[in-house]
Amino acid sequence: MRVFVTGGSGLIGSAVVAELLGNGHTVVGLARSDASALALETAGAEPLRGTLADLDSLRVGAAQADGVIHLAFAHDFSSADALARAVAEESAALATLGEELIDSDRPLVAVSGTPPVAGRISTEADPLLTDGPVGGRARSVTAVLALASRRVRSSAVRMPRTVHNEGEGGFAGLLTEMARRSGVSGYPGDGTQRWPAVHALDAAVLFRLALELAPAGTSWHAVADEGDPVRDIAEVIGRRLGLPVEAMPHEAFGPLGPIFATDQPSSSTYTQAALGWKPTRPSLLQDLENIQP
Ligand SMILES: NC(=O)c1ccc[n+]([C@@H]2O[C@H](COP(=O)([O-])OP(=O)(O)OC[C@H]3O[C@@H](n4cnc5c(N)ncnc54)[C@H](OP(=O)(O)O)[C@@H]3O)[C@@H](O)[C@H]2O)c1
Repeated sequence: MRVFVTGGSGLIGSAVVAELLGNGHTVVGLARSDASALALETAGAEPLRGTLADLDSLRVGAAQADGVIHLAFAHDFSSADALARAVAEESAALATLGEELIDSDRPLVAVSGTPPVAGRISTEADPLLTDGPVGGRARSVTAVLALASRRVRSSAVRMPRTVHNEGEGGFAGLLTEMARRSGVSGYPGDGTQRWPAVHALDAAVLFRLALELAPAGTSWHAVADEGDPVRDIAEVIGRRLGLPVEAMPHEAFGPLGPIFATDQPSSSTYTQAALGWKPTRPSLLQDLENIQP
């Protein structure tokens, strides 16, 4: 397939581009800068210049493709307003991609997140949470899944809280950045809350499988580690950076604080059985050993 990918220069997207190219697909990648265009070209993809706010570029990319994978998101967690702007931008972009594919039976694979479910491990059958600071992202993805009734083979690949590669990425990556800045490896709450995780190279395989195989309107979990206690994550970060490990109030973690503090283990049992996906890469705690002081 000729696949239009947004976010193809990012941590997950670059793994997805490589996975697609390694399995006989061609890739056109949205590039918002010269550096991203060069990264895509170097990987073997064709860059299409534009941003998520440039809806005409998105229409062109989708119109010329046999399928679309959407991963781009402006990760501005500096304030609640900045995060709301990023969510609104993505929402309009995703709606545009979906509209372009109506009545085509072509696949649209959207990135999403595993939902927290109080008191138990979440599964692919659980609905997304549509409130909270990123609830708008869940509403956008839910609207995309509903396009199944309009002949779009839409699917959602739900990411766990940390998608990692070489010790970087995801919520664990944000904890590492905060630790470097503050001199303390902090964790919210009592640190017993669990975050699920996956290696980016394993997640990339699931994006390809969803593109190729997922029936319209379906959701999948890219979960390798069902739940790593956040204190264990902070301890590896603290040890690698030579910093003390301490509990902190969740306000210290900005607009994502409440999400950081939530226990949210998740499972991919159904995904593994139905799509034949099998994660094989290092776990999060193993991968964090790559952090350099
Ligand atoms: N990593 C995780 O643990 C995790 C967990 C849950 C969900 N996710 C979601 O998975 C997706 C990919 O995550 P990631 O970790 O790969 O993120 P990332 O490394 O920050 O990459 C983000 C990608 O989006 C592009 N992008 C950002 N804003 C854009 C804009 N306004 N217009 C066009 N392109 C834009 C970036 O382009 P540049 O290269 O030009 O910056 C980059 O290619 C995101 O939606 C993220 O929220 C990630």
